[in-house]
Amino acid sequence: MVKIGVIGTGGMANHHATQYSAMKDVQIAACCDVSAEHREAFAAKWNVPHTYSDYHEMLEKEQLDGVVNVTPDAFHAAISIAVAEKGVPIFCEKPLASNLADARRMLEAVRRNGVINMVNFSYRNSCALQAAAEVVRSGALGNIRHVESSYLQSWLVSHAWGDWKTKEGYLWRLSTKHGSMGVLGDIGVHIYDLTSFLVGDIAGIQSTLRTFDKGIPGNQIGEYPLDANESFVSTVTFANGALGTVHASRWAVGQANSLRARVYGDKGAIEIDLDRSYDDYRICTGTENIDTNTWETVKCPPTPSNYERFITSIQTGKQDPSDFANGARIQAYLHYSMESDKAGRMLTVEL
Ligand SMILES: NC(=O)c1ccc[n+]([C@@H]2O[C@H](COP(=O)([O-])OP(=O)(O)OC[C@H]3O[C@@H](n4cnc5c(N)ncnc54)[C@H](O)[C@@H]3O)[C@@H](O)[C@H]2O)c1
Repeated sequence: MVKIGVIGTGGMANHHATQYSAMKDVQIAACCDVSAEHREAFAAKWNVPHTYSDYHEMLEKEQLDGVVNVTPDAFHAAISIAVAEKGVPIFCEKPLASNLADARRMLEAVRRNGVINMVNFSYRNSCALQAAAEVVRSGALGNIRHVESSYLQSWLVSHAWGDWKTKEGYLWRLSTKHGSMGVLGDIGVHIYDLTSFLVGDIAGIQSTLRTFDKGIPGNQIGEYPLDANESFVSTVTFANGALGTVHASRWAVGQANSLRARVYGDKGAIEIDLDRSYDDYRICTGTENIDTNTWETVKCPPTPSNYERFITSIQTGKQDPSDFANGARIQAYLHYSMESDKAGRMLTVEL
């Protein structure tokens, strides 16, 4: 039996629990949350035998095979480092940290302690993304020239996900004081991961970030200043010479949760649109299709989810590629996005 401890038992933790509950030989043995209401509701729903308000106490008392860190971003570093220092495998939510220095400290901690480490870039669960990345890596599209990718949500202008003004889970995402890096850290992180997973390392970034007027007096609700970025557009260059745009927004009316990427090479192009489908991509290759702009849809075989891969890594001791090193690389993209916005020019990414 693989015994998992969950730290942070809010919205996303329930998604983790759904996944582990469906797996044979996995048990959520303990959970921890500073909110009694959240942890007791979570423990009751998922039948968790031991609950804690302090993660240090949980790590002291429990014999865990792995820990899942599903706390808000500001707590990722301290908690993940404490887990690594105990020699326990750690699966941390994205973004890896609230800043690049913390991400590097986290990477150093897992390396020093030799523990299995993963970051939950959820869209790697899509078999379409996995297959499309293989197509690009195979060279079937030739030299990659141009990339466009986006992640669009509408929760600042829609009630589709509830009222952001009244929910803590939204409010901390809008507040830099609460460790949020805004739309960049929340969903920009996913689109940067998805894009670099498909195309390879990003070498240069020039971003423009925006925080728009939300019509709230004083631009503050309770303890939450609403100052984090809510839209960004980045021009990026890739190590392989390609050029691209990456953008994300919470102001995209009509888009509940839309991720899309198109990669254009000199021998073909590929598109994934996860709003449309998680398990197929569209491709345009071959002289006839290229000359007639014809796209074919390719259905992809299932691939294991991040949750399954974390459990497999614990069982086999084999590190998964969605590791803290990749998390720190994506953190660097966030960092250089913010810095280039301030500098008003393209910056070279230094990892
Ligand atoms: N991979 C994805 O697609 C995805 C989707 C949603 C959220 N997330 C990430 O998951 C994390 C949590 O997001 P959420 O939406 O569940 O937030 P949330 O606010 O709903 O839940 C966070 C929980 O952590 C608890 N908490 C805060 N500080 C703590 C501490 N020091 N110790 C223990 N518990 C603590 C809070 O009380 C709360 O119950 C964030 O980092 C977010 O970016 C990832």
